[in-house]
Amino acid sequence: MIYAVVNTKGGVGKTTTAVHLATLFATHGSSLLIDGDPQASAASWAAWRRDAERSPSPTTTCLSGKAILAEGKTLAEAFTNTVVDAGGRDSVGLRSALLLAQRAIVPVGASNLDAAAMTDLMEVIELAKDYNPDLDVRVLLTRIDPRTKDTTEMMAFLDEQKLRVLKTQVCERVAYRRAIGEGAIVSELGRDQQAIHEIAAFFDEVRR
Ligand SMILES: Nc1ncnc2c1ncn2[C@@H]1O[C@H](COP(=O)(O)OP(=O)(O)OP(=O)(O)O)[C@@H](O)[C@H]1O
Ligand SMILES: [Mg+2]
Repeated sequence: MIYAVVNTKGGVGKTTTAVHLATLFATHGSSLLIDGDPQASAASWAAWRRDAERSPSPTTTCLSGKAILAEGKTLAEAFTNTVVDAGGRDSVGLRSALLLAQRAIVPVGASNLDAAAMTDLMEVIELAKDYNPDLDVRVLLTRIDPRTKDTTEMMAFLDEQKLRVLKTQVCERVAYRRAIGEGAIVSELGRDQQAIHEIAAFFDEVRR
């Protein structure tokens, strides 16, 4: 299965989601992580992971623009699962990722700004569906304030847009920031049980 983690908005948690997903897949079989963002955050995480000698690791490669579709397709054939971390703006790379993928995971925050920014992404997704009609799009609510978990307005907006939303919500937790900085995922650091639990729930749900 090929997953693309996408949003035209920056800082929503795409890279955090992509590296967790690809690493959890690596514990179950072969896993390829394609860093499709010129900022190469996923590749930096992979380098820190190598330095820290953590395993298992997804095989990580950087591709950009049309190569995400052309080369990504060939590379993905050798792996059970592939995860593309797409860049945080509308680009050829993002569009290529949406043509390559069978599933798109869209991390979004719960604010009105996140909702406003969804309009751009929806247009890009609709275009991609003309060429990739089976693309299965699932929204992941991320960086939610664990004290309030107030996502009511965003849920209503997503419902209006007829977007499928994953039941699991990822909260704003220091554990995620720390894990990425250490080339790890939250379960490897083992410091925050709630983060570990929600990522495990996300992984179970996303594979269904
Ligand atoms: N659930 C979370 N809790 C706390 N911090 C988070 C969480 N998710 C992401 N972050 C932090 O927020 C910042 C942005 O996250 P991330 O890099 O995953 O987003 P992104 O969508 O890939 O951003 P970009 O558009 O720049 O590629 C990072 O510093 C990351 O550590
Ligand atoms: Mg990123």
